Amino acid sequence: MDKKTIILGLAGFGTVGTGLARIIQENGEWIERRTGKKLVIKKILVRDLSKVRPFIPGPEAILTDNVQDLLSDPEIDIVVELMGGLETALELIRRSFEKGKHVVTANKALLAEKGNELFALAHEKKLGLYYEASVAGGIPIVQTLKDSLAGNRITSITGILNGTANFILSEMTSKGQDFITALDAAREMGYAEADPTLDIEGMDAAHKLVILIRLAHGADYPLSILPVQGISGVKAMDIALAAEFGYVLKLIAQVREKSGHLQAGVFPALLPMDHILAKVDGPFNSILLKGNAVGPIMLYGQGAGDLPTGSAVLADIMTLGRDKAGINNTGFREKVLPRADIVEPDLAVYRHYFRMTALDKPGVLSAVSGVMGEHNISIAQAVQKPGPEGRDVPIVFLTHRAQLKAVYSALQVIDEFEFITAPTVHYRILK
Ligand code: NAP
Ligand code: HSE
Repeated sequence: MDKKTIILGLAGFGTVGTGLARIIQENGEWIERRTGKKLVIKKILVRDLSKVRPFIPGPEAILTDNVQDLLSDPEIDIVVELMGGLETALELIRRSFEKGKHVVTANKALLAEKGNELFALAHEKKLGLYYEASVAGGIPIVQTLKDSLAGNRITSITGILNGTANFILSEMTSKGQDFITALDAAREMGYAEADPTLDIEGMDAAHKLVILIRLAHGADYPLSILPVQGISGVKAMDIALAAEFGYVLKLIAQVREKSGHLQAGVFPALLPMDHILAKVDGPFNSILLKGNAVGPIMLYGQGAGDLPTGSAVLADIMTLGRDKAGINNTGFREKVLPRADIVEPDLAVYRHYFRMTALDKPGVLSAVSGVMGEHNISIAQAVQKPGPEGRDVPIVFLTHRAQLKAVYSALQVIDEFEFITAPTVHYRILK
């Protein structure tokens, strides 16, 4: 952009919008020194004008509840979409492009669902659609994949991508808190989505993973077929048992590439306590990736919250503001990215943790281990917790590497035994 002043229209002035405005106010001169541009927030779209706002960015900013005020203002160069949700945000972005405005967004749900359409539209109009804040809050992973590691073939990405889930699991692990108390604390801190089921059922991490797959592999993995398991079913008992074996439980988002084929998913998994991701606690996020030239790289930082996320949004605004080299939305030249070549998820191989609930009586262990043997699942460790004879007790198995398909099929047989009194809990174990 050749102008010396870049005029912003903010759509949304909640956690992230307010964070962004505060940073622009605080670091305005610094931003100008780096880009030669002054950033001015001219209009702010909100839902409820009567709400008391803790912060308003200077006298020139006008609050409105009418989207037309942003769209029809010819002075606005960049629309910054920080409302969240799907339909209204989609419409706003489409119409912003029609009006020739660049868009910066933190809306991972929308990008995961409608990314292809929006990137094609931006491509057609030669406009920017930037989204650094959509994955892992303040961590600069989008730019890293798009630019810094652009020459690498990425062979794996393993990430802790949801701050709320990680905060909940950390609180349950360190303080022995129950799930609901930890979730309430995460909501109070502003980490959780407006609809926290997205966080706890793994969908928020799934949205982010789909975006990372596009950036790393130049391919579209449809969200609708990505295997996703959240943490709402996690029991304090498994966290404690995992710790006894030297593991911590984390919500993991992972994609692995082999000969051009992708295996991906979101699932809770046990990590050895000395795993580099095991110490990522609280609302922090981390991404461990491997490139065929660079080798392993790990990024770590705050994955949510007003200022960290605002920092990522600001980076996009500054990039667009000073971009002389041209727009780079997806990191690839195609108008529409091809569909990923996807490996059947059940063919994935991991080590496994099983917690069975079984009546303590003769023949139980031999029957269970017999089924595992028939399914080619090799037991690495087994422990039965003590309990009164004849009553049900937890039995934990850790296995060597086995295909998910074999595990699901073995558990189906095992859970049918009359001595198994509750569904078996199963988690994958990462190396
Ligand atoms: P938030 O605190 O709920 O704020 C949403 C803002 O959008 C509010 O100002 C709200 O207006 C406004 N809004 C919502 N729907 C609207 C509509 N239909 N018309 C006009 N205004 C509307 O949300 P947030 O946490 O800042 O998140 C914003 C986006 O950033 C989401 O896409 C989220 O997934 C993403 N994100 C959030 C974080 C985080 O840490 N919070 C991190 C990364 C990405 P009122 O103020 O009048 O209610
Ligand atoms: N709800 C999200 C999280 C916000 O907890 O990670 C950041 O995307």
